[in-house]
Amino acid sequence: MGSELIFRGHEAQPMADSYSPKPLKPWFYVARPIRYILREQRLVFVLVGIAIATVGFTFFPTSRTSHGNGYVSIPNTFVEHDLAHYSQRPLYQQGVGLKTWNSGGKIPLGLKRKGLRIVVTGGAGFVGSHLVDRLIERGDSVIVVDNFFTGRKENVMHHFGNPRFELIRHDVVEPLLLEVDQIYHLACPASPVHYKFNPVKTIKTNVVGTLNMLGLAKRVGARFLLTSTSEVYGDPLQHPQVETYWGNVNPIGVRSCYDEGKRTAETLTMDYHRGAGVEVRIARIFNTYGPRMCIDDGRVVSNFVAQALRKQPLTVYGDGKQTRSFQYVSDLVEGLIRLMEGEHVGPFNLGNPGEFTMLELAKVVQESIDPDAKIEYRPNTEDDPHKRKPDITKAKEQLGWEPKVSLRKGLPLMVKDFRQRIFGDHKEGGATTTI
Ligand SMILES: NC(=O)c1ccc[n+]([C@@H]2O[C@H](COP(=O)([O-])OP(=O)(O)OC[C@H]3O[C@@H](n4cnc5c(N)ncnc54)[C@H](O)[C@@H]3O)[C@@H](O)[C@H]2O)c1
Repeated sequence: MGSELIFRGHEAQPMADSYSPKPLKPWFYVARPIRYILREQRLVFVLVGIAIATVGFTFFPTSRTSHGNGYVSIPNTFVEHDLAHYSQRPLYQQGVGLKTWNSGGKIPLGLKRKGLRIVVTGGAGFVGSHLVDRLIERGDSVIVVDNFFTGRKENVMHHFGNPRFELIRHDVVEPLLLEVDQIYHLACPASPVHYKFNPVKTIKTNVVGTLNMLGLAKRVGARFLLTSTSEVYGDPLQHPQVETYWGNVNPIGVRSCYDEGKRTAETLTMDYHRGAGVEVRIARIFNTYGPRMCIDDGRVVSNFVAQALRKQPLTVYGDGKQTRSFQYVSDLVEGLIRLMEGEHVGPFNLGNPGEFTMLELAKVVQESIDPDAKIEYRPNTEDDPHKRKPDITKAKEQLGWEPKVSLRKGLPLMVKDFRQRIFGDHKEGGATTTI
């Protein structure tokens, strides 16, 4: 018994019992990080980390800023009230604080571009409805605001039932509050027949309507695009017209409600930009044509096409030597979207520099519809500009934009639409811009 208590540690152990680690298999080293992750719920932490990063990239993509520096700037005008009001919506939709955001930037790999919420005033009209088609097509949600003075539900009714489309009957002369990211402000009668119909209403739409929409842009931090016009150049003394040209406008003529109205709208837009920090864009649109134009609106292309289809003489005002440029509507829509998504305020001329006299245009219409169509001369209307041709160098350089559709290619599409509407061979709203 006693001998069992004797310490024998000093006795040498037989070599066979001594510890020697087993050589490890090569796969052990490969699997080690995986086993490490699986131990003690580390996997859960890794997954949570990935989820947070995904949310971060989704709501704060670095491409949001126009500087491309990855920062989202908060404007000075941003107040707590706005934050409380809009914090219900994700920041990318709020517009608040995204003053320098360029939604057209790069999207992180694997993440889809988020749709925006966009208001198009005058969206049931000719240009507006084609713009709405494009915005819906690329995945945005669109709210059309229109009083249907010259617009038609038929122009947008192919979107009825689409949850990303809403239509509000509203006159922009009255204020309106909507939570949106971008505002395309088109509401205004564009043809002389319509804008001269109620000149006071026209200038109110241009001044009060634009004020209301700029106020909305300021309030919700939305980017605002004004569709101005080549009419701001009046009867130009410079040819072709460059954006720096200030124009030659009669302030008291019958067209002034439109020309001066748009000039004031441009002034308001720039004042909101400089004074209130609203992000703005200005497009000066030159003559545009295409499907869904009002048939009897007195604009020269729609006049000639409708007259030729109805076998009436084509009315040429004056000697027919005054020139215009004609832009197909899909080219304009592309330019408007590029302008809105780009970094430059403008103004930008958006038009087709191809110049036609009225007589040359009549000839193209004769070739496309009826070679026997007669031409009838009438006295010219008051203040009708003699020459109109855009210089689009600025849009080419800064927006990478230029028109692609020639008159001879675009006109047949418009003729097809007019034929359907005039002769009742109807498919309302179905007219597209596709070449
Ligand atoms: N089409 C062109 O050649 C051309 C040229 C220069 C500028 N523009 C500008 O482009 C914009 C669109 O022109 P368009 O050719 O599509 O004209 P349009 O007449 O077809 O469309 C104008 C739309 O605005 C709506 N509207 C008018 N007043 C309104 C108001 N007070 N409240 C709400 N809605 C109102 C009309 O109902 C219509 O739907 C206009 O601002 C116009 O000045 C067009």
